[in-house]
Amino acid sequence: MTETVLLVGGGGREHAVARALADSDATLYACAGNRNPGIAAVAAGFETLDTTNPQAVVEYAEDVDADLAVVGPEAPLQAGVADALDEAGVYAFGPQADEARIETDKGFQRRFMQEHDVPGCPDFEEFRDMEAACDYVDEYDGDLAVKPAGLTGGKGVRVIGDQVTAEEAKTYIRESEYDRIVLEERLVGEEFTIQGFVANGQLRVTPAVQDHKRAYEGDDGPNTGGMGSYSDASLELPFMDEDDYRDAVDIMEAVVDALDGYKGVLYGQFMLTSEGPRVVEFNARFGDPEAMNTLPTLETDFLDVLTAARDGDHLPQLTFAEQATVCKYAVPDGYPTDPDAGAKVTIDPDSAGDAILFYASVDEREDGIYTTTSRSFAVVGVADTITEAEEIAEGALERAGTEGLRVRHDIGKPDLVQSRIDHMDTLR
Ligand code: AMP
Ligand code: GLY
Repeated sequence: MTETVLLVGGGGREHAVARALADSDATLYACAGNRNPGIAAVAAGFETLDTTNPQAVVEYAEDVDADLAVVGPEAPLQAGVADALDEAGVYAFGPQADEARIETDKGFQRRFMQEHDVPGCPDFEEFRDMEAACDYVDEYDGDLAVKPAGLTGGKGVRVIGDQVTAEEAKTYIRESEYDRIVLEERLVGEEFTIQGFVANGQLRVTPAVQDHKRAYEGDDGPNTGGMGSYSDASLELPFMDEDDYRDAVDIMEAVVDALDGYKGVLYGQFMLTSEGPRVVEFNARFGDPEAMNTLPTLETDFLDVLTAARDGDHLPQLTFAEQATVCKYAVPDGYPTDPDAGAKVTIDPDSAGDAILFYASVDEREDGIYTTTSRSFAVVGVADTITEAEEIAEGALERAGTEGLRVRHDIGKPDLVQSRIDHMDTLR
C-alpha cells in the first residue's frame, strides 16, 4: 500500500530523508520555512510554513491526508509538533516534546543519565546563578565545557583549554545571558556519532560518522552546525575498533531501555577517550550532516522502518552498502558569525556528477536558488574508501564552483584522517 508521508524540515538532512524515500512506495509531501529545491523536486507537494507552529503543520498534514510524518529538525520537536501530529492521528517518527528533552535540555539529559545509571556520563553541575557557576570554574580541578542548557544550533558550547581560557569562559558565562548553564568535565579524545532508529522499545543502529564542528580547516575557528563528515566502509571509523563501537551502542541501548515510549531517531555524540566512549550529548533526531552519510548507504527500505515503527512491529534489521562516504558542506562566506546571504547557487545534480547533491538552507525563487544565512548545500561522495569518496566530493565542488561560499577542503583527506588515528594512538 502506498503511504503518504509528510516530511517536516527543509535542510540537507531532510533532503537526505526525501531521497531515501524517493524509491519507496511513498507519496511524499514536505513543509519547511524555506523552499528546498531538492526536496521539492521529489515531493508531490511542498508548503512553506513555520514548522515550529504545531497547528500549521497539522493542518498541512490533514490537507494532504498524511499517513505518517518524519520530523527532521529539533526546533519543531521542542515546539511539540510530534505531539500535535500524534494527537491528530498522524504517526510522527520523532519524539514528543517531553522525550525530546534528551536533546533540548542538557541539564535534564545529564540528570537522566545519572538517575538511570547510563554509562559514560561526565561529571557535571547545572547552574542558574551565574556567579556560582564562575566560582565552580575557579574551584574545579581540571578543564570544563560550558554548555547553555537549551538549544543553540551547536554553537553555544565553549570548552576551556580548547577554545577559551577559564577567564574567557567566565566572561562568556556572565555576558551571554543564558538562564541555565551546565558545566561539565572536559572530555578529551576523538568524537564520533552513532544514529539509531528507535520505536517499540527497540534500537537499530547505523555506522559511526565523524562530523567536523569547527568552522575552519585544521579544526580552527568557532563551532558550527557541522561543516562535513565521513564514514567508513565498516560500522567503525579508522581511529576506533569494534569494541569501541559496541560500547557506544551499549550506552544507547541503556538510554532506550530507560526511555519509555520514545520513537524517532536517537543520535549519540561520543568522545572516544583513553577509557573508551563517553557521552558528549544525545540528540532526538538525525544529525545534519551525518544523515547525508548514513541514508545513502542504507539498503533497507527506510519506509519499512517507518511503517514498522508506526504499526508496533519489530523494526527491520538494517543492512548497509559496505561503502565509505565523505560529505562536505558549502556555507556562506562569514558563516557562522557573520554570514552573507543572497549569493546565487550554481550547482545542480548534473554538475555534481558522481557526487550526491543535497540542498540545505537555500531558497528557491523564480529566478534561481539563493543562499540564506545558514549552510547552503552539501556534496557526498560514496566509494570503497574514504579517500576515493573524498575525491568524488571535491570533484563536484570544483566543477560547480563555490563563489561566495566556503568549504572545509580538509575533511576526509588522508592527512586529517591519519591525524585522528595518531591522536587516539597517543591517548591510549
Ligand atoms: P554540543 O552542542 O553538546 O554538541 O557540543 C558542541 C561541541 O562542543 C561538541 O561537538 C564537542 O566538540 C564540544 N563539547 C561538548 N561537550 C564537551 C565536553 N564535555 N568535553 C569536550 N568537548 C565538549
Ligand atoms: N552534526 C551535529 C548535529 O546534527 O547536531
